Amino acid sequence: MTLEALFQPLTVGAVHLSHRVVMAPLTRMRSRQPGDVPQGMNAVYYGQRASAGGLVITEATDITEQARGYPGAPGCYSPEQIAGWRTVTDAVHAKGGFIFLQIWHTGRISHSSMQPGGGVPVAPSAVAAPGTHFTRSFESVPFETPRPLTGAEIAGIVGDFAQAARNAREAGFDGVEIHGANGYLIDQFLRDGTNKRTDGYGGPIANRVRFLTEIVDAVVGVVGADRVGVRLSPWGTFNGMEDSDTGALFDVVATELGRRGLAYMHLVEPRADQSSDTNALHPNAPDASSRFKPKFGGVLIAAGGFTGETAARAIESGTVDAVAFGRLFIANPDLPERLRTGASLNRYDRSTFYGGDEHGYTDYPALQQQAAE
Ligand SMILES: Cc1cc2nc3c(=O)[nH]c(=O)nc-3n(C[C@H](O)[C@H](O)[C@H](O)COP(=O)(O)O)c2cc1C
Repeated sequence: MTLEALFQPLTVGAVHLSHRVVMAPLTRMRSRQPGDVPQGMNAVYYGQRASAGGLVITEATDITEQARGYPGAPGCYSPEQIAGWRTVTDAVHAKGGFIFLQIWHTGRISHSSMQPGGGVPVAPSAVAAPGTHFTRSFESVPFETPRPLTGAEIAGIVGDFAQAARNAREAGFDGVEIHGANGYLIDQFLRDGTNKRTDGYGGPIANRVRFLTEIVDAVVGVVGADRVGVRLSPWGTFNGMEDSDTGALFDVVATELGRRGLAYMHLVEPRADQSSDTNALHPNAPDASSRFKPKFGGVLIAAGGFTGETAARAIESGTVDAVAFGRLFIANPDLPERLRTGASLNRYDRSTFYGGDEHGYTDYPALQQQAAE
């Protein structure tokens, strides 16, 4: 099958892509310590995965110290971090590529060992995530019960997202992606399984969506709507997410985002299980893209267990405009070129996904290197 649909140009807000093979955001936990500063090997890694006219979305990046939940994840709030990111954006731009910074606050998916002053993590409500997390020194412990945020603190976090977006532009990013997916703070506000608030940020859908739309409006105010994307995972259950009416909730979210004329909406399809190696579709998995794209009305990037073939088919069917690849991009720095030429793909090594050094990070071979070996 021809993958031609992947290699058609696409305008995504302020950037003009020459193909639709997007690099998905991927936490790799390899920033310089202490300080969570992007370093040399990070610039090499992103530079390897950049391509002319291609879009790279970075790993989730902390907007403040309080946002932290994964040791080694980078930040974008200190001058050193901004300078570190500049080396990354330069490496991507040198290859003619584009790069958006994914900005997050992990909320309850954290541990007091990573929090300022050793306080418990924050969340919309005092509802602990199920299962275990790790401490700053990678000890596995049960999730702590988070502390509910006050109204004033919520306003502060909205401002922190805007400041991170400002910093991202200073570091040379083409735009930012607000991480509203996978059970982190914004998702915790959206769903009634984790949001039990009785103020203007809890209860009816219109209230639960407020935290997200305030963040979007603040970030748009800083960088412009054409440089802002939002990532969501409507039917995702990762990090203990649940909602009493997911479809109705995300109909409202997609409509609200659509009104704002953003660069794109990015949906994680509920098919991929990123914690295992099965790529089997979940039985009866609803297709988020076909339901929410009409509500949004703009560019839709989909992710989650796609192959080149299924991605091209999804684009041809009109339900998605571009596809973000995660695990395939970890193992194939030149994934767009491999898909374009029908070359075979390197296999990824799950044991080196999180933390460590260059091994399993910048040493996956590109086609040219393989040919020379
Ligand atoms: C190692 C790893 C790290 C990830 N980190 C992030 C992240 O920082 N932000 C995010 O939104 N999704 C993250 N994801 C989810 C991916 O972006 C993607 O949605 C998921 O891997 C499914 O796509 P795939 O089947 O192409 O890998 C991560 C996935 C993996 C495997």
